[in-house]
Amino acid sequence: WGAEGHRLIGELAEIQLTPTAHSEVNRLLAAEPDATMSSVATWADEVRSPQTAHWHYVNPPLGDCSYARIRDCADGQCSVEALSKQIAVLKSKAPDEARRKALKWVIHLVGDLHQPLHAGFKGDKGGNLYQVRAFGRGTHLHSLWDGVMIRNRVGGIDELRRDASTAGLAAPATPRPAAWAVESCKIVIKTGFYPGGRFIEQSYIDRWDPVLVARLKSAAQRLAATLNDTLR
Ligand code: ADE
Ligand code: ZN
Ligand code: ZN
Repeated sequence: WGAEGHRLIGELAEIQLTPTAHSEVNRLLAAEPDATMSSVATWADEVRSPQTAHWHYVNPPLGDCSYARIRDCADGQCSVEALSKQIAVLKSKAPDEARRKALKWVIHLVGDLHQPLHAGFKGDKGGNLYQVRAFGRGTHLHSLWDGVMIRNRVGGIDELRRDASTAGLAAPATPRPAAWAVESCKIVIKTGFYPGGRFIEQSYIDRWDPVLVARLKSAAQRLAATLNDTLR
């Protein structure tokens, strides 16, 4: 996701934290001025380095949305394994500095795993090589989902935020990064996800905006459930 998607997920997850998880998040983030789950959600994109460049996505084999670690992430350098590793660090008795960094990765990567094209196919780099025209501009399918559809939403992000902010606390739940990636991939292979032509019609937006909203909301809910489980 782009910045607005990640920030929204951080904001919506924060209000679903249990008091215990919330106070530990606040304690870890207090070392940085004005840090909130929303404000730190984009940090992982700002520190992009060759070491972590592949942590933001996973590419299942074409036509098969399964995930197998040895086949799809042998070196551990993909979103599924990176997230599992960072959750383990956050859960551990590592120094606060290391756990704070892990928390920022977890906030970011749970979000990315829910962007369908972050579990798309290698051949077109998750839609990055699929040019489209949308809202009067040239872009590509990956950016359309990362941010263009969010920024151009009728009702905007505020309506989405208001609607989603009625969610209650998230029950602690074991994180399932591989399952979230498989879900994302299964959206990518649905009929019509890749538009018939290169022009994004209103009918595409009407069809896929509810899916986009559901992925953002799920990401927030699972992020909160993950933190409620990890920081109990
Ligand atoms: N970003 C860069 N390469 C990518 C890929 N193969 N899949 C998804 N996102 C990407
Ligand atoms: Zn992206
Ligand atoms: Zn990312």
